[in-house]
Amino acid sequence: MMRKKWSFVLSSLLTASLLLTACGGGGGGQPAAQPSGETGQSGGSGESYVFKVGHSLTEDHPYHVSMLDMAKKVEERTSGNVKLEVYPLSQLGAERELTEGLTLGTVDMVITSTAPVTNFYPKLGVLDLPFLFESREHAYKVLDGEVGQNILKDIESANIIGLAWAENGFRHVTNGTKVVKTPADLAGMKLRTQENQIHLAAFEALGAKPTPMAWTEALTALQQGVVDGQENPAIVANTYKLYESKQTQMSLTGHVYSAAMILFSKPVWDTLPADVQTVLAEEAKAAGQLERELMIKMEDEAIAALKENGVTITEDVDKQAFRDAMEPVYEKFAGQIDQDLLNQIMNTK
Ligand code: PAF
Repeated sequence: MMRKKWSFVLSSLLTASLLLTACGGGGGGQPAAQPSGETGQSGGSGESYVFKVGHSLTEDHPYHVSMLDMAKKVEERTSGNVKLEVYPLSQLGAERELTEGLTLGTVDMVITSTAPVTNFYPKLGVLDLPFLFESREHAYKVLDGEVGQNILKDIESANIIGLAWAENGFRHVTNGTKVVKTPADLAGMKLRTQENQIHLAAFEALGAKPTPMAWTEALTALQQGVVDGQENPAIVANTYKLYESKQTQMSLTGHVYSAAMILFSKPVWDTLPADVQTVLAEEAKAAGQLERELMIKMEDEAIAALKENGVTITEDVDKQAFRDAMEPVYEKFAGQIDQDLLNQIMNTK
């Protein structure tokens, strides 16, 4: 975070002109913050802020578009006193590094899928269980309801402020050679997974050879043939043109609903005035909603674009066989997953 303090004094009673008398912090070129004192606007404290927002996706992905929209709204509501600088493509680090940065106060804000966050806040692991959510609507009901809202509050215990839910989408398996319809088709296949113990165990249960790694390493691993495949939502496969990294087969396995979160660093948050916190919290909620809407709109477009680029989309996947093969993961992690939370999610209809 870059912060500037500006104070305005009367230079003389005769001219009553305003002079800028103090300026601290780094990062030149910021406009002088005018204390507004108006209801609904922040910056009454006379401070201005620049927050760095990191994520791992491309500039045409809803993660980025929604963060730019949030930046615009925050700037408008604070008369330019609060700015968000949005860094795509893991420029500030991959998701696990970004999350760690939040806990340390070296990264201000992040939009990320939840799987790497589980390493810092294990309770989130419940969301990594395969086939937990039957539909997007089921996921929204849970995340926008008591379960999701409690998680957003409770993640503060990991030194992270949970601002809002967003979405990465249902994950599907891609590879370069095989039509995948059943778990048997994945036997021995080297697959990149997210850095998450439950995802790792789930693909082991399928008989694949999963290798967890950051997304930044995954692209090189796919290009160099270190792994044969990966799993991610169609929009990620399309925006990253994974067909150029040998991923010409996509099976709509939908094995995990990958929720995303808009998160803020608690060490940074705690230094902010309440009015700035309010604007950030409200606009993050709006950005999360916009992001989900864009995801829904872009999903079919992504599948069509993948087809146009030569990707074979396999829709008749034996989902029940995948569900059954991944079931042992529920047992394996029973001691680490909050069973009340799990029941609450499964009973949400
Ligand atoms: O596979 C991942 O690591 C994530 O799904 C990604 C692509 C970084 C988006 O959050």
